[in-house]
Amino acid sequence: MSKGTSMPVFGNLHGLKVVYSAVEIAGPFAAQLMAEWGADVTWIENTFNGDSMRDTTYVKEVDRRNQRSISLNVFSEEGREVFLKMIEEADIFIESSKGPAFAKRGITDELLWKHNKSLVIVHVSGFGHYGVEDRVNRAAYDQTAQAFSGYLSQNGTQEQPMIASPYSGDYFTSLMIVGSSLAALYKAQKTGIGESIDMAMYEVLLRVGSYYMTDYLNAGITYPRAGARHQNLCGIGVYKCKDGFLSLCLYGAPQNKAILERIGLGHLWGTDEYPEGTTALWLDSPKADLIQQKIEEYLLSQPVDEVEKDFSDLKIAANKVMTIEEMVNHPHYLARENFIEWENVEGKKIKGPNIFPKFKKNPGQVWRPMPTLGMDTEDILTDLGYSAERIQELCDKGIIKKS
Ligand code: COA
Repeated sequence: MSKGTSMPVFGNLHGLKVVYSAVEIAGPFAAQLMAEWGADVTWIENTFNGDSMRDTTYVKEVDRRNQRSISLNVFSEEGREVFLKMIEEADIFIESSKGPAFAKRGITDELLWKHNKSLVIVHVSGFGHYGVEDRVNRAAYDQTAQAFSGYLSQNGTQEQPMIASPYSGDYFTSLMIVGSSLAALYKAQKTGIGESIDMAMYEVLLRVGSYYMTDYLNAGITYPRAGARHQNLCGIGVYKCKDGFLSLCLYGAPQNKAILERIGLGHLWGTDEYPEGTTALWLDSPKADLIQQKIEEYLLSQPVDEVEKDFSDLKIAANKVMTIEEMVNHPHYLARENFIEWENVEGKKIKGPNIFPKFKKNPGQVWRPMPTLGMDTEDILTDLGYSAERIQELCDKGIIKKS
């Protein structure tokens, strides 16, 4: 694909301009989703080694498709000029750093708003831009945020906390960036006044990880890490079957009655201990240990596909734990075209997830593969009004890099 490929008109975000300076997942994946939904996304990469995501093999091809790359030293005097010109035309600017790195180098929100009063700015960091000084400037990846937010301490076994993979803290942050920046844009478009968002990754996880925390906050209740099972309900978790694993989410009165019958404990239903209408089988209920034991024994004797079908017919939420190999050829995945193919810049076929969600009227699309480092530097500067001589001059000085 040539450098100058013009962007087709598609998606609900057609016309939206997003500029970002961030590495890896949290910031870039937010821009990526917007690029897949039609936004014009520019990826600013440093001039020394570019985004560290470039060290990956395939995921970079997926998580940077539809983007344009400019390699620019934002913090040099002349680089800042280029950057501010880009900002004049942007709707949303996302940056991720170890604390307030842009402000420290003179690129404050106020300066950005001087150039574009309605700009929505998202500052992504591990710990936010204010708080305890020593923490604010620390580096953070997904796991760091999971650890500080208490998210990590809630997953795993009693002996061993475990990371919620893959990179949940990053991807949750991306979703929060998309939501909050579009919320701010909604307001900015009505008032003409922009917004600045202090996006601390740990706070994102604090928000999405607060389900059980509320029991502690309000009643001092804590739960031991439950491993593959639920903290306080029977029949919820991952169970071993004859030839695979089943994810079972047992909830609701008809479902409880049905499963008790299946496991040979039907006589418990309608008793004082489990009156008809019992929606939840609590782990501290009278026969909970017996119920758990019988569920385990029953499932161990069943082929996973058969029990999944049987339970589903009983309106019990149950699904085989699918492997990646099983997913890619599953008829439902095929029917919904969940994976697609496109060519990377070298003409090699790349396979990846389709565009989600599926918008009925203004669907997203893949219109361009991941660009090479600085592939669009020249085009972007030309569009901003820079002459070929000036572009070469900036290149010779190392302010920008072309590919
Ligand atoms: N022009 C000039 N300088 C640039 C630049 C550009 N376009 N882009 C980055 N830099 C600078 C940074 O300011 C930084 O300088 P400093 O170390 O003197 O502060 C340096 O280049 C390296 O920056 P960075 O890309 O942030 O790499 P890092 O290895 O120092 O840190 C993270 C990486 C991810 C740990 C850090 O950016 C961070 O904590 N980000 C916030 C949370 C986050 O997004 N984590 C990743 C989730 S996937």
